[in-house]
Amino acid sequence: MKILLTGAAGNLGKALTARLSPTHAVIGADIVGAGLQRLDISDYAACQRLITRLSPDCIVHTAAWTDVNGCARDPAKALRVNGVGSHHLAAISARYDIPLLYVSTNEVFDGERRQPYTEYDRANPINAYGYSKWYGERAIAQLNPRHYIVRTSWLFAHGGRNFLQAILGAAAAGKPLQVVTNEVANPTYTEDLAAGIAELIQSERYGSYHLVNEGAVSRWGLARFLLDEAGYADAPLARISRHQWQRASLPPEYTAMANIAGASIGIALRPWQEAVAAFLQTEAFS
Ligand SMILES: NC(=O)c1ccc[n+]([C@@H]2O[C@H](COP(=O)([O-])OP(=O)(O)OC[C@H]3O[C@@H](n4cnc5c(N)ncnc54)[C@H](OP(=O)(O)O)[C@@H]3O)[C@@H](O)[C@H]2O)c1
Repeated sequence: MKILLTGAAGNLGKALTARLSPTHAVIGADIVGAGLQRLDISDYAACQRLITRLSPDCIVHTAAWTDVNGCARDPAKALRVNGVGSHHLAAISARYDIPLLYVSTNEVFDGERRQPYTEYDRANPINAYGYSKWYGERAIAQLNPRHYIVRTSWLFAHGGRNFLQAILGAAAAGKPLQVVTNEVANPTYTEDLAAGIAELIQSERYGSYHLVNEGAVSRWGLARFLLDEAGYADAPLARISRHQWQRASLPPEYTAMANIAGASIGIALRPWQEAVAAFLQTEAFS
């Protein structure tokens, strides 16, 4: 397949490029990054030009403004990029009957439940980032019947700057660590998610999916597991509540997600503990 990949310079975009390139012709696009097609998804005419010129068999859309605190400070920009940008891709891909896979987030849920959200549970975003991503979901679901909406959460990747690297860096520097106990979700390894997406785009089983590593944990539980696995079992880890960690964008409290739709067609990601262990092994040799 000829695949147009938006957000190719990002953490998931890089994992997808590596996963898809051996078997597909992947054309990466992003607002930044060398060797990629330059594309600002909030520019309708630019999206139209690129898609008509390339005529891809499938679009995998990971591009987003993922700075959640930035989104809280500038919700209009969040909506323009994540919401309206996704609407552009939905409208154009629908016109040419091109399947579109959109990567969305656990933050479309309000976090009020205490059992994992299923694919068709009601979204009710509580912050600007979540709202902008939900807007994108709605546009894609309404405009292009050949869509896959893939929600995921708490991504960790090699070479990026994420929660796992921040915790490991602080522990290595002997800095005191305090982590939130009452935010719960599914940590997800970009390598595993990329493998799941690669399977899904071959399936033609359109619809909504929760592709996350299996099992949920609090931020604190994830940090403790990581430190123990990485040889920092003695590193103290203070517990704090989410309101003690001041941020412009307060995430929803409980957003564990159940993968029901993916599992029903044989696409399931391994438990998060195995994924973190695999991540550490690869980091150790890189
Ligand atoms: N990271 C997570 O924990 C997480 C959790 C759930 C869902 N997701 C979703 O997963 C997807 C991939 O996340 P990620 O962590 O790989 O994000 P990322 O590393 O920030 O990658 C996103 C890429 O999109 C680019 N971009 C921003 N604005 C753009 C625009 N107007 N036009 C084109 N490209 C633009 C970004 O450039 P800049 O770097 O210059 O902004 C970046 O290269 C996103 O859709 C995100 O919403 C992520």
